[in-house]
Amino acid sequence: MTADSEDPAQRARLADHWTRQALAEHASVASFARFALHLMAVGAPPDLLVATHQAGLDEIEHARLCFRLAGRFAGAPVGPGPLPMGGDVLGPTDLASVAVAALEEACVGETLAALEAAEARDRSADPEVRAALTTIADDEARHAELGWRFVRWAVQQGGVAVLDPVSAALRRALAVREPEPHGDGPDDAAFGRLGAHPVWRIRRRGRVELLAPVARALLAEFGVQLQSAR
Ligand SMILES: [Fe+2]
Ligand SMILES: [Fe+2]
Repeated sequence: MTADSEDPAQRARLADHWTRQALAEHASVASFARFALHLMAVGAPPDLLVATHQAGLDEIEHARLCFRLAGRFAGAPVGPGPLPMGGDVLGPTDLASVAVAALEEACVGETLAALEAAEARDRSADPEVRAALTTIADDEARHAELGWRFVRWAVQQGGVAVLDPVSAALRRALAVREPEPHGDGPDDAAFGRLGAHPVWRIRRRGRVELLAPVARALLAEFGVQLQSAR
């Protein structure tokens, strides 16, 4: 059993880190609620709808786990406030737009989130942090799979009108080169907070080693060649 950090500055950093993680997870609940409406707008099959609602429940649990850790390091309960709902929350609901949104948020976002969570888990020595990140990593990987399943279905339904924007979005996602950060700051990996450099490396590796082959395989099913990513 790892002792809690005795360093007030580290505790403050960890409270801030886990609060930000928790708020991102909390926002993901709304993302899957929106995705469920998108699925209905395009007439997606019920198995995708079931998986999407289950994913929203997973995100509620992720937010709970992260808020609990934030409260532990803050020494006081931490929880969400109202989520801003201004503007056009639903966005465009045509099949191509919905497929591109799913690609960016579920296929790309969840794949990279799963890798980050798994790496943070592996570097952590704290049992509560490890348990939370194990749940999160497993669930985010499943959410990414759901995204790919939906995108495949959308291309099957919409043909070239969906395939073209999906291919373009995949090329954009794989071409992203995030600038290499300078230094890592303090080392809080024992409590699940990775430095900027490991995060940058994981995301770069994820694009090349995980996203690119899956994207290439998906597009090849529909006769589109994707250039190799470096
Ligand atoms: Fe999550
Ligand atoms: Fe997720």
